[in-house]
Amino acid sequence: MSLITSILALFTALIALAHLFKPKKESGTTEAPGPRPWPIVGNLPYIGKFHDLIEAFKNLKQEYGSVASIKLGVHNAVVICGLSNFREVLIEKGNLFDARAAFKRYDLLFGGDKNNSLAFADGSDSHSKHRNAIAFHTFAKNGSNNFENLENITSQHVYSLVENMKSQLQSDQKLDAKFLFAETIATIFVKYFTNQDVDPCDEVFQNMISSFDAVFQEVNEGCIGDVLPFLMPFINKSEFVELTRKVRAFSNQCFDPVIRQRVGGEVLDQNNNKQKIQPVKESNVINDLLETVENNPEMTLEHVIFAFEDIIGGHSAVSNSLIRIILELAKNPEVQKNIREEIREHAAGFPTMSDRLTYLEASIWEAFRFISSPIVPHVATQDTTINDYTVKKDTVVFFNNLDMNFSPELWESPDKFLPERFITSDGRISKPDYFLPFSSGKRSCLGYKMAINVTKVILANLLQNFEIEIDPSSNYTMERGVIAVGKNKSLPFVYKPVVE
Ligand SMILES: *[C@@H]1O[C@H](CO)[C@@H](O)[C@H](O)[C@H]1NC(C)=O
Ligand SMILES: *[C@@H]1O[C@H](CO)[C@@H](O)[C@H](O)[C@H]1NC(C)=O
Ligand SMILES: *[C@@H]1O[C@H](CO)[C@@H](O)[C@H](O)[C@H]1NC(C)=O
Ligand SMILES: *[C@@H]1O[C@H](CO)[C@@H](O)[C@H](O)[C@H]1NC(C)=O
Ligand SMILES: *[C@@H]1O[C@H](CO)[C@@H](O)[C@H](O)[C@H]1NC(C)=O
Ligand SMILES: *[C@@H]1O[C@H](CO)[C@@H](O)[C@H](O)[C@H]1NC(C)=O
Ligand SMILES: *[C@@H]1O[C@H](CO)[C@@H](O)[C@H](O)[C@H]1NC(C)=O
Repeated sequence: MSLITSILALFTALIALAHLFKPKKESGTTEAPGPRPWPIVGNLPYIGKFHDLIEAFKNLKQEYGSVASIKLGVHNAVVICGLSNFREVLIEKGNLFDARAAFKRYDLLFGGDKNNSLAFADGSDSHSKHRNAIAFHTFAKNGSNNFENLENITSQHVYSLVENMKSQLQSDQKLDAKFLFAETIATIFVKYFTNQDVDPCDEVFQNMISSFDAVFQEVNEGCIGDVLPFLMPFINKSEFVELTRKVRAFSNQCFDPVIRQRVGGEVLDQNNNKQKIQPVKESNVINDLLETVENNPEMTLEHVIFAFEDIIGGHSAVSNSLIRIILELAKNPEVQKNIREEIREHAAGFPTMSDRLTYLEASIWEAFRFISSPIVPHVATQDTTINDYTVKKDTVVFFNNLDMNFSPELWESPDKFLPERFITSDGRISKPDYFLPFSSGKRSCLGYKMAINVTKVILANLLQNFEIEIDPSSNYTMERGVIAVGKNKSLPFVYKPVVE
């Protein structure tokens, strides 16, 4: 891990110096136990001993229990395990823990202020209003007009995706389809949220996709400047500021026609003559967000554009997790076979969003049990407690949900890929309370239902058409506990046409 290497390289001298200091006395405080921090770097050397963060969290639990204190540079932090602690932070004291870590890098990525981002903003009134405007679209009910609309759009573009893949397959049947997936999902999102068709060859659209992917890889990585902000001036992140500019060019392209439509602006017709357009306000995310601005003077158009970018950027999370899910399925051909049978029985022809495909859905959940990342850390907004341990304001809370995902006490054969574990005896999906791949409470993932639905249709159509296999010459080693598959990582699979 580059994070760890940079920490160690930069601080070897400092750590040697730190050995001269006496250990801090722990007298009568009820702060959670944890390793003794060094001056300035805190417990970064402790974390650095482990292969990755997952390993470090596991050891913290073994050594210090289900609430462990660690100091990460300037940040106080706790790492928590277990459902009751999760509930306390996410639900019972949700309002006391609704902030996000104050990492300088997030400010850089979101126009100088992380509060511009839905995912990384601290909790606030306007944040809740943005969430509500968006939730209306991402949580469309089965049978609603929005649902039907998303279903139509998804079907159309997934059909094209499969055709596109078929046409690109060479005799070795090997294909790295990551960009095709990202393009398909982005196209679906843009059409659904803005009712605009994108030209897949449009450079602004293409740049948006590759920029979001790079940003997604970036926010999934650690950076020494997050925890030691005084190093930030020495870290050159200008390329990421450039990425956000490319994203903005796309947003402007999407906003422009909607804003002109609202106010009754002008368009150029085929002969390049200006034509007046009638003001219309159709139901789409841009219009709904613009309405929140009109009704809330503290919000600006800038806020709305950032919120919009968060939603559209969600496509990167979906395409990256799709690759990881496909890898799990490629490793389990018998699961693919079962899914194919279910499709044959329940979704003959072209599988769509409203088809009930329980085993496929269970396979997606089971894949998320394997691939999910730790819940995005929360931050305490005031002095409070977790499991009776004192937690100071601004303490960053890390969630060790992977510990629960693989606990032999909670799951039978946790290392086996068994979709059946999510299906009840009467054939319904049931997810246990301790399975929280998309978190819970007021900061839970806004887009997950939409994401799962779109993923379901893509997988159903891929598996109906292809037997997906591992390519023996590829290296699929990826970082654990991170959805992002890695910068510029080529992850081809073998797509063998299904012969009936
Ligand atoms: C972000 O929003 C929170 C909650 O409204 C506020 O307390 C905080 O000061 C804001 N941060 C910045 C940098 O404006
Ligand atoms: C979805 O597609 C069907 C068939 O093409 C059409 O009848 C229906 O109106 C569409 N629904 C929406 C919400 O666009
Ligand atoms: C930062 O990196 C970019 C290229 O990514 C380069 O153009 C720029 O000059 C660098 N800035 C500094 C201050 O080193
Ligand atoms: C959605 O609703 C339709 C009609 O009520 C039903 O047939 C279908 O099974 C439902 N789909 C899902 C995935 O629940
Ligand atoms: C698919 O979308 C519908 C409507 O929002 C939702 O009820 C359902 O739970 C979603 N499916 C999954 C697996 O999230
Ligand atoms: C596969 O990639 C990982 C990291 O990207 C590397 O550590 C490992 O050595 C590679 N394995 C092979 C067999 O090349
Ligand atoms: C990764 O891809 C981007 C854009 O495709 C390119 O600019 C960059 O040089 C690549 N990085 C590496 C390490 O190959």
